[in-house]
Amino acid sequence: MATPQPAILNRSMGEHQWYVHLSRTDGADLKVIKSVIQKLRKDCADKKINLVLGFGPTLLKDLTKDVPSDFQPFELIKSTDGSGREAKATQEELLFWMNSPHKDQIWKIQWDARQALKGHMNVARETMTFIYGNSLDMTGFIDGTGNPDPADRDREVAIVPDGQPGAGGSFILAQRWIHDLEGWNKQSIPEQEGVFGRTKADSTRLAVQPAHSHLAHVELRQGATGDATKPKRDEITRRSTPYAFHDGTVGLYFMAFCKTQAPLRERLRAMYGADGQVRDKLTDYSNPASGSFYFAPSTETLNAALA
Ligand code: HEM
Repeated sequence: MATPQPAILNRSMGEHQWYVHLSRTDGADLKVIKSVIQKLRKDCADKKINLVLGFGPTLLKDLTKDVPSDFQPFELIKSTDGSGREAKATQEELLFWMNSPHKDQIWKIQWDARQALKGHMNVARETMTFIYGNSLDMTGFIDGTGNPDPADRDREVAIVPDGQPGAGGSFILAQRWIHDLEGWNKQSIPEQEGVFGRTKADSTRLAVQPAHSHLAHVELRQGATGDATKPKRDEITRRSTPYAFHDGTVGLYFMAFCKTQAPLRERLRAMYGADGQVRDKLTDYSNPASGSFYFAPSTETLNAALA
């Protein structure tokens, strides 16, 4: 059985998270890139830092033939209701996602890797995030309630099954969402609850979902989306965490895994009403500044590709 990168299935994340997105420069030497990634893996293993390595479509195909089906770069998603809301596309070639209780150790290891990649890969963006209270989003709502239950179902939801291209790997959606927290906090609690489709105090699912609710867009069911009488389909598992920048920008770093990419795209298109649906009201208060898809290959594929 192919082995997933262990940090994908580890829900006990360290409270400090670091996302680094990179792309190759002209004349990049793949041999150097491979050796830096190998050292990064070893450094993280030595310090017990959780590391997930995700590759964009262009770098993955240069590293291995074990490429999953239907792996597409992130493309701009636009609303169709005249609101101008959109989910930006900022596809890069490599993502390091690291988490640990020790921010200093993460900083040092990613710094060393970035220095060693100079002249071969540029850092396109990075974000440091943290765990807020009881897995809260900055809106004050609990984030993660609808994740696969029990947690060991994450493997069946997120990992490409054996026998398929990319077996043991996982598709990643990584997006930095910017919240209008002041606007959000002006809404009454019942309005806020209608936006998510869950209660604020304890994340109880509202029996009747407003058409604009987040759950009415992302809770995919075998019948209509959000119809809780039908079984769920195409589940994903999320590991999102909040961030706060020095300039006052705040929001959620959305991070999700799935064994196919289409359900990630389907949910985003629904949220933006890209196919004429009602837009997710959450996008009145939050929109992404970045968006990329990556694939996190199995440990065996990584070992062979980086050797
Ligand atoms: C600003 C961005 C976002 C925020 C603040 C947010 C927050 C939330 C909250 C509070 C819930 C309800 C509790 C829970 O189940 O976790 C939820 C559910 C969920 N969200 Fe989001 N979310 C965001 C973006 C997204 C995106 C981009 C996707 C997928 C592409 C997504 C997929 C889901 C799924 C699958 C559920 C669970 C549905 C179920 O119960 O089956 N969310 N989200």
